[in-house]
Amino acid sequence: MKVRTDFVLKEIGQLLTMTGTGASGIGLVTDAALAVRNGKVAWAGSADLIETCCSLSGNTDIVSAGGCVVTPGFVDSHTHPLFGATRQEEFAMRAAGADYEEIAVAGGGILNSVRRTRSASNAVLQENMMRHLTIMLANGTTTVEAKSGYGLDLNTELRCLEVAGEVADKVPQTIVPTFMGAHEVPEEFKGRPQEYIDFLINEVNPRVREQGIAKFVDIFCEKGVFTPGQATRYLAASAEQGFSLKIHADEFYDTGGTAVAVSAGAASADHLLSISDENIKLIADSNTVATLLPGTALFLNKPFPPGRKLLDAGAMVALASDFNPGSCFCDSMPLIVSLAVCQCGFTVEEALVSATANGAAALELGRRKGRLTTGFDADFVIWDCNDFRTIPYHLGNPDVAVVYCAGRKVYST
Ligand code: NIG
Ligand code: FE
Repeated sequence: MKVRTDFVLKEIGQLLTMTGTGASGIGLVTDAALAVRNGKVAWAGSADLIETCCSLSGNTDIVSAGGCVVTPGFVDSHTHPLFGATRQEEFAMRAAGADYEEIAVAGGGILNSVRRTRSASNAVLQENMMRHLTIMLANGTTTVEAKSGYGLDLNTELRCLEVAGEVADKVPQTIVPTFMGAHEVPEEFKGRPQEYIDFLINEVNPRVREQGIAKFVDIFCEKGVFTPGQATRYLAASAEQGFSLKIHADEFYDTGGTAVAVSAGAASADHLLSISDENIKLIADSNTVATLLPGTALFLNKPFPPGRKLLDAGAMVALASDFNPGSCFCDSMPLIVSLAVCQCGFTVEEALVSATANGAAALELGRRKGRLTTGFDADFVIWDCNDFRTIPYHLGNPDVAVVYCAGRKVYST
């Protein structure tokens, strides 16, 4: 039976379906076509087969990709876009020699953003998030995970997640909200992290759950923030309340956050700049995705995450931006892909799979996003190039030409 279609994208020079096997499975089809129906991919394959496989009526819209590259839109599975103000003054302090952790201990860092987020109106929060989603779209990102975590009190955390929901209704991208009340211990709980975790479990998580405003919870497991024991307790309670789990793990110190993620059954363990060889093996043998954020290493002048080691061990690796006002003010997934190739030992193919299909897996959306095959959301990018290797090669200047979300053209240069 022929597949019904609303529109067909033809004359695709290289189509990356991301349906191949393994870490480098880009599923390349040359001289390809893509058919869309009701916002989903109805069919994707060699252009020769389109007439045999698809029913093309007089009403079918036919669009040419002009011989260019087409990929799934990027799935940015780790961002912090809900904040009251940017922190360029801390960036300048670091440029003049101060250290990120020193700034944080002195009341800057996350707690600086907390003060500015608590005092920001919903309109300001919304404006900041919208502004960066617009930039992300122009960089080819069609799915964005969005964490709260700069409120750290009931009212501000709920406000941030509500704003994320309002923004989701206004932008073409799919937004996946994460509650990150456990981003830091707020001033009013200083020295009492256990009590703050209790407050989250008993008073904030239930409200977030009741309102249905976050799919995931996340916790920052780090020396001086939350211990592996506290993270284990928080994640177990959150899982029982029905949340899916994420964790900021082994970022500055090898505290064992990765092991916490694996035993909690978290969807992903993120950062991993300081992951031990033992924990590389542990995560490789698990269903937890290892999410790497090389933009943060660049921005903070820290060693890059061990991408090659994780890939060689057989881990499923995702790449994401970590967009946030403190440790990585970068909304460009093409730049992240370039960094993964140039600094973390990824092949071009591995980096592109990690930024699309594996990002979707890290959001538990692996059956809907990040691939261009029948039944998946028709979120894709037409690139102004005819060789997919140009995507990371063109450093800092993405060749995004057109972006589609759910089969609708939402951006073009
Ligand atoms: O993912 N590591 C913890 N949280 C953020 C940084 C937040 C900030 O500095 O504002 C991160 O990098
Ligand atoms: Fe983060």
